[in-house]
Amino acid sequence: MYKNFWWPLATSNEVSNKPMRVTALQQEFVLYRLSNGQAQVLSDLCVHRGGALSDGWLSGECIVCPYHGWAFTRDGACVKIPANQDGVPVPRKARVDSYPTVEKYGFVWAFLGDLSEQDRVPLAALAGVAERAQGASGSITWQASYDKVVAHLGDLAKAFFAIDAEFAGPQAKVGAADTSQSDWSIKIAGNITPPPSIEKGFWGLTRKEVASVATNASMTLHFPCITAHQAGGGQLVLIHLPVNDKVTQTKWLAIHPQTTLPETSNRRLNAALEAMRDQIEGGAAPTNIAAQAFARMCNEALQRGWGIDIHTIQSDYANIKAVVIPSPARREVPELAAAWVLKEVPVLRTD
Ligand code: FES
Repeated sequence: MYKNFWWPLATSNEVSNKPMRVTALQQEFVLYRLSNGQAQVLSDLCVHRGGALSDGWLSGECIVCPYHGWAFTRDGACVKIPANQDGVPVPRKARVDSYPTVEKYGFVWAFLGDLSEQDRVPLAALAGVAERAQGASGSITWQASYDKVVAHLGDLAKAFFAIDAEFAGPQAKVGAADTSQSDWSIKIAGNITPPPSIEKGFWGLTRKEVASVATNASMTLHFPCITAHQAGGGQLVLIHLPVNDKVTQTKWLAIHPQTTLPETSNRRLNAALEAMRDQIEGGAAPTNIAAQAFARMCNEALQRGWGIDIHTIQSDYANIKAVVIPSPARREVPELAAAWVLKEVPVLRTD
């Protein structure tokens, strides 16, 4: 798991003016909407005594901690401490980490890190997916690490999910493929031929004809968490969010070709993903081209000091102390350098 990337913490329709708690990267976050509709992500850990802001409420433009009523603006600064006497200023240390937040492709994304804007790896541009993506969607939770999930689902053969999950069986044949890579993505394009249909009757015959035709397809993996599959006019975006080092939630958005009923495809897609559960949760990670590229990108992130040391957090900070992913204000505002009460997450060393 890596800091300093954009991570999708929820779908847009999950976030409202009622604060919502999300666990990701072994951290707790609170998501909410301001009165102008903008979404915001803060660390969910109140700096006073560690209460969960997500148990609180919104008052004007502030989120209020339910325990002693401290109120925080969207940039994480506390502006009200009810127990203080009139005229007593709020200490500068009274602030929580606030993360840059955008909404795109139907998700709320937070930049979980402390890099300034010009140094950030941009949020991936997903060709063919509208800013406010509409389409069939769903989610599945795996008892597996997110890198293993990405390696399994970042496979060109899975591009048939984008047309119809029935075709995306293990027997799908992948022809010669072209590969193009950048620092933080890999695209694999080629022909795939689906396995024979298992459906009987009229639909079986129809599908048998379709199944004999090789289709142009592509899979693009955008580090750290997106696999986008295209085939036959359909597109499927899978977004993988690590809850912790053992649990991953995959949310998907399907933009269907006109010929397929969304409800039918949703059912098939859910069933096809479910059928992969044993393989993903129990088997070894694959070693295909995309998985190798993903490993290269993981290593690059580690070399840059962005790998979160989950095991140290679990052993040294369990229950009594807390650490948080640092936000940009920790670097951008020098006069606040001493204002942070909570320590930053430890990172993995590469030497
Ligand atoms: S724990 Fe949040 S105000 Fe006291």
